[in-house]
Amino acid sequence: MSDFLSIPAEARVVLETIRARRSIQQIYYLPDPVPQEYLEMMLEAANWAPTHGQTEPWRFTVFAGEARRALGEKFAESYRLGTPPEAFEIAKYEQQLSRVWKVPVWIALGMQVGTNPKIPEWEEVAAVAAAVQNMQLVARSLGLGTFWASGMPVRHENTARFVGLEPPHKLLGFLMVGYPATSWPEGKRGDWREKVSWRLG
Ligand SMILES: Cc1cc2nc3c(=O)[nH]c(=O)nc-3n(C[C@H](O)[C@H](O)[C@H](O)COP(=O)(O)O)c2cc1C
Repeated sequence: MSDFLSIPAEARVVLETIRARRSIQQIYYLPDPVPQEYLEMMLEAANWAPTHGQTEPWRFTVFAGEARRALGEKFAESYRLGTPPEAFEIAKYEQQLSRVWKVPVWIALGMQVGTNPKIPEWEEVAAVAAAVQNMQLVARSLGLGTFWASGMPVRHENTARFVGLEPPHKLLGFLMVGYPATSWPEGKRGDWREKVSWRLG
């Protein structure tokens, strides 16, 4: 980015936060709880995402502490339901049961669809994704790591029902949140200039 003095300091802070956000995998979290005020700030940021037709399709359920036990049981059950018997592995079933204890907070990323028949589903997905990114950025600025998990058990209809989402409403996975146990990983991206063409004047 060119170094013009006219760029406000606030814009630099926003860009720096965006660049510094990293996905932290579930094996790299401290067990320390996340302050409720921090979670509320993230959830308020989510609520300010852009939304076509003001449908505000995001629906979140926050799991922490002992509430994670039932969540892990649901992930495991969904793994079993969504896996053909010949592919079922007990080790993978047990991983679903135990993974919830590795990260202090799990936020279900729900999406309501059909509230406004003029808005196609992809736009609701886009709005929820923008809400998730808002949460991730506020989390980063609070020193918290996050990770959007989207494997089969965390999206399965059985898990969706557990967080109150009946079809056609959907679950787009879970956002894990917690303090990283390691230093922030290096980010990696190709040059943005290779993905942009300009047609000016
Ligand atoms: C919608 C969505 C779903 C994702 N699901 C997974 C997942 O299930 N497993 C995984 O390893 N990473 C998942 N990721 C995270 C990406 O791996 C991660 O963003 C990417 O490696 C870039 O790393 P960074 O976020 O630290 O820049 C997901 C990201 C998005 C946007």
